Amino acid sequence: MSPQQGHRWFAAVYDRIASRGEARVFKHIRPRIMGEAQGRVLEIGVGTGASLSYYPAEAQVVGTEPDPHMFRRAEKRLAELGVTNIELRQASAEELPFDDASFDHVVSSLVLCTVSDQPAALAQARRLLKPEGTFRFIEHVRNDESRFWGTLQDLITPVWRWCGAGCHPNRRTQQAIEDAGFRIEWLEQVRLAPGTPAIYGVARPS
Ligand SMILES: C[S@@+](CC[C@H](N)C(=O)[O-])C[C@H]1O[C@@H](n2cnc3c(N)ncnc32)[C@H](O)[C@@H]1O
Repeated sequence: MSPQQGHRWFAAVYDRIASRGEARVFKHIRPRIMGEAQGRVLEIGVGTGASLSYYPAEAQVVGTEPDPHMFRRAEKRLAELGVTNIELRQASAEELPFDDASFDHVVSSLVLCTVSDQPAALAQARRLLKPEGTFRFIEHVRNDESRFWGTLQDLITPVWRWCGAGCHPNRRTQQAIEDAGFRIEWLEQVRLAPGTPAIYGVARPS
């Protein structure tokens, strides 16, 4: 199913599925990744809007999301927040309708695991960033430190993708960010679940 058609049931249960990771890991990371993004900010794949409350009030934020079911939930969350500095647009990370070098920061949170064309999404992030801008990310990645877990992630990917609305547990996203023309400024790793690392950090156009 394309993201434009959407995943109605995944969207309906997403916040419940994500709540444990959110409470244990992500709510501690989002203040650094989203909370320090000032100026004009683009977030790709906002989902149900988990990040929206973390942006500073002075930032001008555009959140994009292709899945109509996720999008509606993000709209509801934004209305509940009652802020005026965030707008939402329905769009895929691979095809973003914005001018070159028009954002100070591009943010991706648990999205590069799911986009159908990771190099194209990262090329868009690179295109949209000002030369001094930052790409800010939180992503779960393949476990390359353990042969057992890495192989298991490779094996379960077809089923995982089906259950998880296109999510790949085995992407080497740090390498993909570097291959897209970014230099990692800082990066930290956290254990999301047994055998499942997540990385978060900031990269700049190189
Ligand atoms: C695991 S959710 C993460 C949602 C949110 N960013 C968060 O941190 O909770 C992945 C999101 O990526 C979106 N997505 C899937 N394909 C995409 C694409 N090609 N471009 C942008 N977003 C996409 C999905 O619709 C979903 O909302």
